[in-house]
Amino acid sequence: MSTQQLERRWWHNAVVYQIYPRSFNDTNGDGIGDIPGIIEKLDYIAGLGANVIWLSPVYQSPMDDNGYDISDYQSIAPEFGTMADMDSLIEQADKRGIKIVMDLVVNHTSDQHPWFIESSSSTDNPKRDWYIWKDPKSDGSEPNNWESFFKPKAWTLDEQTDQYYLHLFSNKQPDLNWANPQVREAIYEMMHFWLKKGLGGFRMDVINMIGKPSDFPDATIFDQGVAGWEHWSNNLLVHQYLREMHDKVLKHYDVLTVGETPFTTTLDGRYYSHPARNEISMIFQFEHVSIDREEHNAVKKPFDLVQYKEIMARWQEDLYQKGWNSLYWSNHDQPRTVSRYGCDSAQYRLVSAKMLGTVLHMMSGTPYVYQGEEIGMTNKCFNSIDEFNDLMAKFHYQKMRERGVSETEAIAFLNDFSRDHARVPIQWNQQANAGFTTGKPWLPVNDNYQEINAEQALSDPNSIYHHYRQLIALRQGIEYGDVVVYGDHKLLDPDDADVYAYIRSYKGKSLLTIANFTANELVRHYDGRLKQVVINNYSSSVSTLDRLTLQPYQAVVVELV
Ligand code: GLC
Ligand code: CA
Repeated sequence: MSTQQLERRWWHNAVVYQIYPRSFNDTNGDGIGDIPGIIEKLDYIAGLGANVIWLSPVYQSPMDDNGYDISDYQSIAPEFGTMADMDSLIEQADKRGIKIVMDLVVNHTSDQHPWFIESSSSTDNPKRDWYIWKDPKSDGSEPNNWESFFKPKAWTLDEQTDQYYLHLFSNKQPDLNWANPQVREAIYEMMHFWLKKGLGGFRMDVINMIGKPSDFPDATIFDQGVAGWEHWSNNLLVHQYLREMHDKVLKHYDVLTVGETPFTTTLDGRYYSHPARNEISMIFQFEHVSIDREEHNAVKKPFDLVQYKEIMARWQEDLYQKGWNSLYWSNHDQPRTVSRYGCDSAQYRLVSAKMLGTVLHMMSGTPYVYQGEEIGMTNKCFNSIDEFNDLMAKFHYQKMRERGVSETEAIAFLNDFSRDHARVPIQWNQQANAGFTTGKPWLPVNDNYQEINAEQALSDPNSIYHHYRQLIALRQGIEYGDVVVYGDHKLLDPDDADVYAYIRSYKGKSLLTIANFTANELVRHYDGRLKQVVINNYSSSVSTLDRLTLQPYQAVVVELV
């Protein structure tokens, strides 16, 4: 199949800006970001060039997992606003050419969802089978040995009915039983409700976990990830459910759908995203955010650029013309990009953040910019476990302590990887609380907001924001759009541990991206003749590829003759 045969879709050259509403912009002084706060900042997002916004959940929720535990899919959490606010957000965004993508969290609900309240009320309730209930083993223990992402075990005993229910996440996030057609119908109906409002699509939370094997076998793989994953991630049933969802819902709308899919290979990626399979537009793979740690066991590993390049190149190549990639450095579950992969010192923050943006945005796929990444926000320093908010940070802390990790080392691990880094408020300006709220922010702002804030970034032509704006403009522009979006991908010098270089080519046009991942000056040679420099994070000129001197964290994209 050639490129021309892959039908072009609007989301191929889209750029998505992800908002974590709680931490974005508070308009009523309660310390919690809200939907009116998003509306207020739409011009800021449009100015960057993003044309899709993915909103983390704003639905009614007891907020055990900050909204990823939904108690009513068809109403808005009061702290975020009203349904009228949501309608107005869709409308106001549309006026600026921006589509709103909502989070679809349907692997599980909150334990406060009326469905679960009914389901847990008795073993013969009509909704009993909407969730996954199992008898204890004869000794009273859990039905199998599966673990949960947020708790030691994936099963919790309901004492009233003496059965266990399954939860791959917290015990307040019971898993829905997708094998029950009534559950699926209820979800499809809810999806129509939102799509009819003119939504641009859905980001589907842990969607590759909805298919559970009917015999619930014990886990046998314990050396990586949450025990049980080999049974419930990418089970073939998920593909059957997604094709049904496509047929009953998605095919009626021209929308972007992105599945969050941990434990996924490029072959799985093709199953999900090949257009002819009628499943979803693209997925978030996890390989590249898993190389510097084993998340479930909270173990840090050294970052290895060679491995990173191998992973990214494999996804670029394996999905080329056989599916579609999503591109991301970060999201609300990951630490801050520049602190993790670049260098957040005063000297190198700016150049290294721009370098990372360049590497990602010149690849094929749909890029996602996580709020604050465009101004180079950094990890915050937390001093004790009480300062963390996220339930996963607390779970990881407990696990580390139990296996004998010292308190200092456990806090150091969380300071590298906690999800809270991404969740501290956006730094808008130099005013109190970085202009995020006039009240007390739900999570304290990072101390560095005097230097790092959106107002500063907007007014400084040399800022990360303006660099991202240029990268996005290249992707969406006439001159380089096709090669950036549809070009093929060739990794150069896979064994170079310091420099990431790759070529994108399409119909005779070729772009070479070269990025120095170190704080050292390096000299490299590349074949080919330079036609012109397309973007560069240093002002010094680049005139040859032969004995090219790269400054610390320099990233340059050149068009080849
Ligand atoms: C996804 C979300 C994460 C959430 C979890 C459970 O991984 O991105 O924030 O905690 O699913 O819904
Ligand atoms: Ca508020």
